[in-house]
Amino acid sequence: MPKVKANKKKVQNVVVVGAQWGDEGKGKLIDFLSQDVDITARYQGGNNAGHTVVVGEKEYVFHLLPSAILHKGKVCVIGNGVVVDPKALIGEIDDLKSKGIDVKPQQLKVSGLCHIVMPYHRILDGLRESVRKNKIGTTGRGIGPCYSDKVARCGIRMIDLLNPAVLKAKLEDNLTEKNEIFSKVYKQKDFDFTTVYQEYLGYGKLLGPYVCDTTLYLNRAIDDKKSVLFEGAQGTFLDIDFGTYPFVTSSSTISGGVCSGSGVAPTKIDKILAAVKAYTTRVGEGPFPTEFSGNLEQEIRTKGKEFGATTGRPRRCGWFDSVLVKYSIMVNGISELAIMKLDVLDELKEIKICTAYEYKGKRFTDFPMDFEVLSNAEPVYETIAGWSSPTRGVTEFKKLPVNARRYIQRLEKLLNVSIRYVSTGSKRAETIIRY
Ligand code: IMO
Ligand code: MG
Repeated sequence: MPKVKANKKKVQNVVVVGAQWGDEGKGKLIDFLSQDVDITARYQGGNNAGHTVVVGEKEYVFHLLPSAILHKGKVCVIGNGVVVDPKALIGEIDDLKSKGIDVKPQQLKVSGLCHIVMPYHRILDGLRESVRKNKIGTTGRGIGPCYSDKVARCGIRMIDLLNPAVLKAKLEDNLTEKNEIFSKVYKQKDFDFTTVYQEYLGYGKLLGPYVCDTTLYLNRAIDDKKSVLFEGAQGTFLDIDFGTYPFVTSSSTISGGVCSGSGVAPTKIDKILAAVKAYTTRVGEGPFPTEFSGNLEQEIRTKGKEFGATTGRPRRCGWFDSVLVKYSIMVNGISELAIMKLDVLDELKEIKICTAYEYKGKRFTDFPMDFEVLSNAEPVYETIAGWSSPTRGVTEFKKLPVNARRYIQRLEKLLNVSIRYVSTGSKRAETIIRY
């Protein structure tokens, strides 16, 4: 594995979040940063995430496993805030095994408090979408219904899969209610208790060795001066509170979600970093003010391979939106940015940056709370000359074409935050570290 130079400073606990609508390149950034930490932990979301890591010629996509799982001797944690589809998690572990990577319980720790995605959650996700007038375009992985049950206090947790009597009681209760909904509201067939019960007891047996109190584990590790990298899934504008509701996911994707999703207090967190694409993408429905129209979308989608890593859906593409990212910087407390996929813009003659929105004669320089404004906002653009030369694989800032440097510096000024990393390709080594 090529080792990329990364700063080795004092032990720090760092959070990496996505500053847009997900798919910002968090997987690559985390894989690269996790070389220098002891533990990497997921704290929200589920297998709706799709984090791509390229090592040599091999590409890996992780949905539930933290992106650092490829680093030998590092520990990966799935925190209590994650919703786990056990079948999907076992599938990922088995898939790595077939590639010669054996995930041992010393290397993977799963919280007993994680809520479990059940088969009825997956089916409900699709059925609810099918009857909605304004479809969200979910990944169909049962994430929303699982988090709903968590909040409704009828969810089944990882620890319950290890206790046949508890699982039986909880599953019976759930199926009594859910089967009524399936048959009466959606005219679908019932779930058979024994089949689901046996299947999930089986998952409990397979995953049992990985299950522990990850909150204790993380806090003790931090007390022992171990460093933790918290891996966010999705992005700030898919956050259940701050995103473009209702076109969001069902968890707290912002840095604040780390504390409730892992049981690590805010006082233990040293730094928040965000991944942001050099342009913008979104998969699924919902407002997207800077979305391209015409040929440009196709061009960027093809160059950036902008197809969902989880569902394969084509991603919507658009210009960089500084109104959006500025808001992200504020709600997450971001002190450093990593600009991903700069090379995708290489051939453009000119590049636009959105600096404000306009609606009904009013100008908005802050992200508007009102959905009507956001849905109809006309972006105000600043245009910058392109660099029309390749940046792929460049590893030093000074070796970037002058206009590419200008673009990065302009973003830095508009966002008032330092851009520490610039990614110039999908491989680990194709990264600029500025300081
Ligand atoms: P990563 O971690 C991009 C989107 C879905 C949909 C909305 C709700 O790879 O960045 P859900 O299945 O979560 O209820 O769907 O959220 N979505 C993502 N978009 N990247 C992701 O994850 C996403 N996870 C969910 O497309 O619009
Ligand atoms: Mg993704």
